[in-house]
Amino acid sequence: MVNVERFIGAAIASIRDKAGNDCVVMALSGGVDSSVCAELAHRAIGDRLKPIYVDTGLMRKGESERICELFCDYNLTMVDAADEFFEVLRGITDPEEKRKAIGEKFIRIFEREAKKTGAKHLLQGTIYPDRIESEGGIKSHHNVGGMPLHIAFETIIEPLEDLYKDEVREVAAGLDLPLEIQHRMPFPGPGLAVRCLEEVTPDKIAIVREANAIAEEELVEAFSPWQCFAALLGLGTGVKGDVRLHGWIIAVRAVHSRDAMTADPIELPWETLRAIASRITAEIPGVARVVYDITPKPPATIEYE
Ligand code: XMP
Repeated sequence: MVNVERFIGAAIASIRDKAGNDCVVMALSGGVDSSVCAELAHRAIGDRLKPIYVDTGLMRKGESERICELFCDYNLTMVDAADEFFEVLRGITDPEEKRKAIGEKFIRIFEREAKKTGAKHLLQGTIYPDRIESEGGIKSHHNVGGMPLHIAFETIIEPLEDLYKDEVREVAAGLDLPLEIQHRMPFPGPGLAVRCLEEVTPDKIAIVREANAIAEEELVEAFSPWQCFAALLGLGTGVKGDVRLHGWIIAVRAVHSRDAMTADPIELPWETLRAIASRITAEIPGVARVVYDITPKPPATIEYE
């Protein structure tokens, strides 16, 4: 456990020291890690912090609008890049290729915007488990330190690099960040793309986004999961009204975890599962079937890709 007050004081001093009189740029996703980093840096250097939010088109329902509201006091640059991301994802079915395409696109867009700020330093919300999982080579995370940027920053500032997620949440509370940020579930950098098997298309993303919103509405407050979400698996047969149809299969996942290295499926009440299944199939045309994933990590990962 960290001593929160001491950590905050030291982190602010360190950011101020590393930034000198220059500007610092960062990718703000609105997750707890980047939000804590942004708040620390904002306290340290004020408007010399230049946060950039990239809307990849792969975000959750209402997420981009909400982040704009929450960080309206910051000098936030919003970039609408949905079309660019769907373009590079066209035809890709391999999960690792998908992550690489998204990571690469994200970096180039970020670079393009970062250059405009003239910042000399890069702030990143990397936390301890990100480094371990990335070093372990399980799959490529796109938010990990050492992004292959073509801009030569003088310094990479990573104030959270030794913290676990629950410690970051304690720091968020110590900084008085809004509760919705303190308790925000982790959301992968590649967004809904890793919750949509096979090729990513705007239509499939729209479906998984709606299903995900329903899963979150039914589960977040009631069960305080580490993470819960919906993923789109593929097509199956269903029957709606009197018509047999080929409809999408949605998987719902809800897990408890401490640090995402291992995870346990939550034993949800049957009524909750029934309610989720009927809402998803009733509210989203084209979905024929809902399944609940009961696999722990390991052997499954939390995300689907
Ligand atoms: P897995 O699926 O490997 O995920 O069990 C472990 C935790 O990491 C999140 N995750 C990611 N986060 N970029 C991120 O920022 C990524 O590429 C990425 N992939 C997985 C996942 O949501 C879970 O909390």
